[in-house]
Formats: sequence, C-alpha cells, structure tokens
Amino acid sequence: MGGPRPRSGIIADSGPWAVRDRTTMLIHVPEVLDPATVAQFREALDRSDWADGRATVGAQGAQVKRNEQLPADHPLTRALGDRILRALASHPVFLSAALPLRTLPPMFNRYRGGGHYGLHVDGALMRERDSAQPLRTDLSSTLFLCEPDDYDGGELVVVDTYGTHEVKLPAGDLVLYPSTSLHRVEPVTRGERVCAFFWTQSLVRHDWQRTMLYELDQTIQRLRARLGDDEDTTALTSHYHNLMRAWIDT
Ligand code: NI
Repeated sequence: MGGPRPRSGIIADSGPWAVRDRTTMLIHVPEVLDPATVAQFREALDRSDWADGRATVGAQGAQVKRNEQLPADHPLTRALGDRILRALASHPVFLSAALPLRTLPPMFNRYRGGGHYGLHVDGALMRERDSAQPLRTDLSSTLFLCEPDDYDGGELVVVDTYGTHEVKLPAGDLVLYPSTSLHRVEPVTRGERVCAFFWTQSLVRHDWQRTMLYELDQTIQRLRARLGDDEDTTALTSHYHNLMRAWIDT
C-alpha cells in the first residue's frame, strides 16, 4: 500500500487519477467495498476457475476481447454479485447518479499477460440468465478489485462527445459511465486487473437528464449542509422531484 488513496477524481488524461473534466457523466463512486471485503473477494476469486471472456459476446465483441471471466453460473459470481448489489442499494452517490430501476447481477473479469478489450459499445439490451425480462443498458459500471499500483496498463478508456478519458481507480471504487459510449480496456502488461462489471437500467433514460438531476441533487445537498433547511432549499428540492416526475419512465 502506497501513500494516501486518491479519492477526488476519476479521469486521467495527464497522469494517474488526476481530476479532469466535470462536464462528462463519468462518475467516480468511492468506497463501494471496504478494503477487508475487497481482500475477501480477491481471495475467493483468485482460487476460482476462470473462462475465456469470448464465450459471452457476439461476433464483433469476440474479435476484440481478450480476457477471462468468471462463468455467470458459477456460485461465486452470484454470491459476490449479491454483496455488491446490497452495497450499492445504500450508496448515496450511486443512487443519486444512476437513479437505478434495475441492475443486472455483476460479473467478474480478469486481464493479464497482455489481455485487453478493444473498442466496442455494450449491447443495448441484456438479459439475465433464465429471465424473460430484458434490461435496457443505460449505465455501465466497472468496480475495481485491485490497486492501480498492482498492474500496468488496463486503463478503461471511455470515448464520448467530450473526448477520451482514462480511468483507473483504487480497489473498492467504481466508475459509472453511459452505456452509449465507445470504450476499451488497454492491454495489461504487468500484474493482473480484476474487476466486477454490470449494467443498470435507469429510471431516467437520457444521460443529459440524469446528469442534470445528479448535479441538482449534489447542489441541494451542499446548500442544505451550509444553510440548513430553509424555504429556498425546499423550493429547489421540489424542482428536483418535479423534474424527476416529468422524466422517469418505469
Ligand atoms: Ni464494454
């Protein structure tokens, strides 16, 4: 373990973890899992049998994907995934940023020995195993289960209308990004990169609306912390809920 864990930023164009650009809807969700839980996860995952990640994608994905995945029907996938979903259900940043309607069970992947995932877009619809109900993928999440110092390469690179952003977070932290974006994972040239990943259907379909609601919510919370509850924070809160009422689809 090195110095203090950087918590303030997600996006590094100029150096690891530097804060970049607040106009993109890439959200750093800190401390989803505490260090002891991450260590438990890794102990279990490192002992497991992993499968070729190409088994779970279509033809386009198979051409660019070189990694390993824990099979979806592996008991550990469901057990650890449930713990992640429980942690997210009470995480204020995730709830405020994602406004989740439904999140698919998390999956786990591992990159090492040059493993990478070339530029791709996630499928618009995903289906849980044995479930008839498809999920519209509004948001993609990557939860890091390894420290940035433990491997070289492996940056998640997200390309959106604002440019290209590299993401590499401390173990236990998550990045939330629009599933509409093209993204890739750079080759891992030293060590291993182990992450959980999953998709969320949001109550609010469009990224710009979700971004507005998230920023409004954050602003209200800062004002409330500074000023307490008064007429103005109450008025802003009513705008938040009325915008949400106008925009949610369930
Ligand atoms: Ni992807």
